[in-house]
Formats: sequence, C-alpha cells, structure tokens
Amino acid sequence: MLNEQLQLYIEDLIPERDSLLLEMERFAELHHVPIMELTGIEAMLQLLRIQRSRKILEIGTAIGYSALRMASAIPEVQIVTIERDIERLQLAKQYIQRSKHSDRIILIEGDALEVEELVRPHAPFDAVFIDAAKGQYKKFFELYAKLLQDHGMIITDNVLFKGLVAQPDIPVKRTRNLVEKITGFNNWLMNHPDFDTVILPVGDGVAVSKKRGE
Ligand SMILES: C[S@@+](CC[C@H](N)C(=O)[O-])C[C@H]1O[C@@H](n2cnc3c(N)ncnc32)[C@H](O)[C@@H]1O
Repeated sequence: MLNEQLQLYIEDLIPERDSLLLEMERFAELHHVPIMELTGIEAMLQLLRIQRSRKILEIGTAIGYSALRMASAIPEVQIVTIERDIERLQLAKQYIQRSKHSDRIILIEGDALEVEELVRPHAPFDAVFIDAAKGQYKKFFELYAKLLQDHGMIITDNVLFKGLVAQPDIPVKRTRNLVEKITGFNNWLMNHPDFDTVILPVGDGVAVSKKRGE
C-alpha cells in the first residue's frame, strides 16, 4: 500500500464527486459506515470501464455508495446489489431514489449466502464485486463465480486489510482470526485453477480475478 503522502497526493487529483455522492461520503464518515476507499474504488471503476461491463453483481451494498459510483461511471450498466442490514438497505434505497440511476440498480435484501435464487434470474454478470463479511469471502466467491459471464471478472476488496495480512504478530485474537481467514482466502485465490488473479495495493487492497481461458 502507498505511504500516506502519496495516498493524499492521488486522492487530491481525483475529480470531485457530485453533491449526492459527497453527501454519502460525509454520512459514511460521520456514522462509521465502511465504504470503499477512494483510490480503491477509482481503480475498480477504471477496470469496469475497460471491461465495458453491462451487468454487475455487488455483495455488500451498505448505503449504496459504490453501487451509485458504478452506475455513474458506466452508462447503461445494470447493478444488482445485496445487503443484509435492513437499516443500511433503507438508506441505500433513499439515496438511490434521489439519484438519476434508480432504474439501473436492483436492491436485494438478505444474506448473500441465502439469496442466490433471487440473484440467479439476473445472471450472467460481467463482474462480481465482493465487499461484505471478510470471513466469508471464499463462500461468496464460490457461490457467485457460477453466475459469471465467460469473460467475467471478480473484484474483491479489503484483501490487504490495512496491511495486517503482512504483519507477523497480531495481539487481538478476533483480529488475528480474521486476518488468518483473509490470508487463507488470498492463498486459495492466487492458486485457483480457473482464475488468474492480481492483488492491487490500492485502497485497502483489491484483488482482480479474471476467468481463465476465455
Ligand atoms: C464494506 S460494506 C459495503 C460498502 C459498499 N460496497 C461501498 O463501498 O459503498 C459491507 C456491507 O456488507 C454487508 N454484509 C456483510 N455480510 C453480508 C452478507 N453475508 N450478505 C449481505 N450483506 C452483507 C454489511 O452489512 C455491510 O453493510
């Protein structure tokens, strides 16, 4: 990951978002809603533009910030996004209704591991974006990789988890367990027979996995 000075330098160069997105960024900061870091999301949006994604599945809507960023960045893209926290889902609904993109975002309420049947009719997807409970990444990946288009990619956020994946001694047991899950996922992903993966050290660490052989 970049040092703080460079991180701030890049963030300063990123064009200002529209007023609704800025309001959401402020809300997230004030209410401790974990939305994707700016440099991470910009990298992801650029990959989605290059891929010319038409349909994206997001696991982990929170208040709808990344869904709206994707909808704003890519004309005509359709987004299906899953959230299990009812309060956050309501906020996402309100923000999305206030945007110009409400007809292109479908919200699905529930645990991503339990709503595959509701998601399947919208498949196949050009991209799947995993940004939910970190301990479940492998399960999300295995479940929703099946709904990917032949040329599809899966983007997974937080794979470097504030740099903790490379830290030898983590004193807090709960954090240590979570780090072990993420490093386990990273090792599994990097050796996956059906995907080529690169880990980008932007934001909180973004893994980009492209289906092989297409
Ligand atoms: C990091 S936030 C998502 C941020 C959002 N993608 C953004 O950048 O604006 C993670 C969200 O995933 C939700 N979540 C966690 N595990 C989930 C699961 N198994 N199914 C559905 N949602 C889940 C949490 O409630 C939380 O709101």
